[in-house]
Amino acid sequence: MKEKLQNITTEALAKIEAATEISELNDIKVAILGKKGELTSVLKSMKDVAPEDRPKVGQMVNDARQEIEAKLEAKTTAITRAARAEKMKRETIDVTLPGVKKIDGHRHPNQIALEDLERVFIGMGYEVVEGPEVEYDKYNFELLNIPANHPAKDEQDTFYINKEILLRTQTSPVQARIMEQGKLPIRILSPGRVFRSDEVDATHSPSFHQVEGLVIDKNITMADLKGTLDQFAKEFFGEKTKTKFRPHHFPFTEPSAEVDITCFKCGGKGCRVCKGSGWIEILGCGMVHPHVLEMCGIDPNEYSGFAFGIGLERVTLLKYEIDDMRLLYENDKRFLDQF
Ligand code: DAH
Repeated sequence: MKEKLQNITTEALAKIEAATEISELNDIKVAILGKKGELTSVLKSMKDVAPEDRPKVGQMVNDARQEIEAKLEAKTTAITRAARAEKMKRETIDVTLPGVKKIDGHRHPNQIALEDLERVFIGMGYEVVEGPEVEYDKYNFELLNIPANHPAKDEQDTFYINKEILLRTQTSPVQARIMEQGKLPIRILSPGRVFRSDEVDATHSPSFHQVEGLVIDKNITMADLKGTLDQFAKEFFGEKTKTKFRPHHFPFTEPSAEVDITCFKCGGKGCRVCKGSGWIEILGCGMVHPHVLEMCGIDPNEYSGFAFGIGLERVTLLKYEIDDMRLLYENDKRFLDQF
């Protein structure tokens, strides 16, 4: 009996020692100490042992059991520890590795300039409205007092869809559309894409953007126009900016003017940005022509107004001192990332 117990013990201890997985240990436990286990069957055969030897044998079985249980426990701890150590090693984080930088998108310089510009006029009570890019000749030309023989109507300048429909060459048609709606007074800003049949170069593109402004109310005078655009120039280009109104001609305004601002770079002394003149042209404007008001259903004896048109790209190029308009359309990320 004693020998049998010793064999069971030795064999069990060896198996436990050789085990590498917790599941193996469980199998061993069941096979030795379980209900039908080897050690348990020894206990069951106690009835064959002489009564006087039973305490001794019982003691031996208990000792064997304790020894095996202790070994099982030790091995369980060892395997668990080894597994954890292995896991820790696998999951080690090298905090000195450079992180993966998240790249955020951002606004295009044209869009930044537009939002800055809108902010100025919204602050003066203007509403931002949009008009269609595919437009009727009627709105793009006719209602704006641009006669049939006007050079702007030439196919060399305008993309026609058919005789009556075209890609708008300016944002001014939005003026006619808004006036025609008849809700007065009017104070709107209308940014958008325009199209002209131009070759691409540093200052031209067949598609660019304008921002149109229109104010119609009673007693609007040239002084309102000058005050408004002067304020805009100061807010947009800087407090020290001065404006100069040069007489010009647009069919839909009378009188008309082009506006120059003192160069924000050199302050008017003359530099590369203003090409030495100290002044930079930024927009066209004027008092809405009475005939235009009339055609759009507004009584010129009761109402008057002013309008202006800003070339968005022009303003963006100036603001960021970019010398080639094509850079705004190529969308080279290395260029765009600078804004
Ligand atoms: N539409 C003109 C252009 O494309 C710009 C312009 C000039 C707009 C005077 C106006 C204005 O509203 O009053 O050249």
